[in-house]
Amino acid sequence: MKIRTGTLSQLKQKGEKFACLTSYDALTAAIFDQAGIEVLLVGDSAGNVVLGYETTVPVTIDQMVHFGKAVTEAVSSSLVVVDMPFGSYEVSSEQALASAIRIMKETGADAVKLEGARPEAVKRIVDAGIPVMGHLGFTPQSVNQLSGFRVQGRGDAAQQLLDDAKELEVAGAFAIVLEMIPASLASDLSSSLKIPTIGIGAGVGCDAQILVWTDFAGLSDRSPKFAKKYLDLRGELSRAAAAYLAEVRGAEFPGEEHSFN
Ligand code: KIV
Repeated sequence: MKIRTGTLSQLKQKGEKFACLTSYDALTAAIFDQAGIEVLLVGDSAGNVVLGYETTVPVTIDQMVHFGKAVTEAVSSSLVVVDMPFGSYEVSSEQALASAIRIMKETGADAVKLEGARPEAVKRIVDAGIPVMGHLGFTPQSVNQLSGFRVQGRGDAAQQLLDDAKELEVAGAFAIVLEMIPASLASDLSSSLKIPTIGIGAGVGCDAQILVWTDFAGLSDRSPKFAKKYLDLRGELSRAAAAYLAEVRGAEFPGEEHSFN
């Protein structure tokens, strides 16, 4: 069954949590889709994870289209959300709408995501028939303004976050990612909003969770405190590469079973 934005809202109403992962390619997208992960985010974290950039700031719409298309081609059930990269929506609501339309047309995604308290841009895109996911708390595209990777929404900033989330909901966002905020604030937000909250470093009180897939699989060389490793893929790949190297050098591979008569 295809997951739609309405499915996520029904899950919240029933008090059932859902899971999201990032994906940037057809191979992982097919695996996560078949595993029943409800939402796949083609995050601009592709800039760090796949392209080796220090931040997500240099990522372009062309790059997001490339990754987004690969994911949508491989998915049959998961809801696919494509990130709007830095510079594609900040200038005006018109720019935001034009970028969102391009991403939807060229990737076949189900929705777009944008960072920050930008209710006007969200409303403009939603009014054109495109579902929008919000993203508050630590917003990686503003890393330079936020003075690095820091927990957001502590102290007086908590009320601002609650107000921003409410505005995004009123503007028509169908869900909001909450990144690196105190767990108690994320719980308050989750109970005060009708739309689902998707936490990343925001505690267990959110309606859903998201992880960058290379953190979840233990493939990243460094991963944040909030990311649980469900696998040691980096270790497994390193061991496999060392075994392959040794077998090639020792003329043990290819064996009879891998050769043609
Ligand atoms: O780009 C991304 O992967 C994200 C997640 C961290 C939510 O925005």
